[in-house]
Amino acid sequence: MKGVILAGGYGTRLSPLTKVTNKHLLPVFDKPMIYYPIECLVNAGIKDIMIVTGGNKAGDFLELLGNGKDFGLQELHYTYQEGAGGIAEALGLTKDFVDNDKVVVILGDNIIEGNIRKAAGDFFTQKEGAKILLKEVSDPERFGVAEVDDQGNVLSIAEKPENPKSNYAVIGIYMFDNKVFEIISNLKPSGRGELEITDVNNAYIEQGNMTSEVLHGWWTDAGTMESLQRANSLVSDGGANLLDI
Ligand code: DAU
Repeated sequence: MKGVILAGGYGTRLSPLTKVTNKHLLPVFDKPMIYYPIECLVNAGIKDIMIVTGGNKAGDFLELLGNGKDFGLQELHYTYQEGAGGIAEALGLTKDFVDNDKVVVILGDNIIEGNIRKAAGDFFTQKEGAKILLKEVSDPERFGVAEVDDQGNVLSIAEKPENPKSNYAVIGIYMFDNKVFEIISNLKPSGRGELEITDVNNAYIEQGNMTSEVLHGWWTDAGTMESLQRANSLVSDGGANLLDI
């Protein structure tokens, strides 16, 4: 399986911190933010990784990460997203890299306490389709929110709904088979002018081809002042990307 880290966009919700640098290069406790999603993929045994960058100071990723030696990698792949046309647009840029493989995608501002080894292993043996990870939160309206039935099946996902149908946020780690690129090529921009990852996930749900798991341990994004501060506290209190959780 291939790994993709999405680190494009302008990080406007963190302005002025992002006026002269890229959101994913900002510190979270003792490391740049981008280190956490890389560690997350490497911990899951995924070593063939592409970073999609964009916005400010995209070139600094190369200077910081090089070929990924600090993470035990032989090579890191990069591509560049012009503008900020959405998470699904950014993922679409990795089509040639992913080729005929499956792909585990992680948003560059998502940090988890534990690891995704089991979920990635389960998806590796899943014949086709997609898998998402859910986490119960107190502020679901900030995220993609899953409508879940009594058996835990995801019925639909709403992006930042005013009236969430559950407290289950869809976290920014997604697993897709190769059909994802066809789905992306048929997407239309949302009201906010972006190709939405939630529309991709809903397409898999409509095909009856989506599985889900609830993540163990804490999860946070780091894309707003409040969540960046929360990420700093969570990481400094106990560390992220732990293997034995
Ligand atoms: O954090 C999880 C949430 O992430 C999900 O629950 C939502 O369903 C999903 O839409 C997303 O919501 P956000 O509004 O928080 O996403 P944001 O625009 O902050 O983008 C998250 C990351 O995705 C960002 O750190 C870099 C990458 N990205 C984003 C955009 C808009 C790109 O690479 N290119 C882009 O054009």
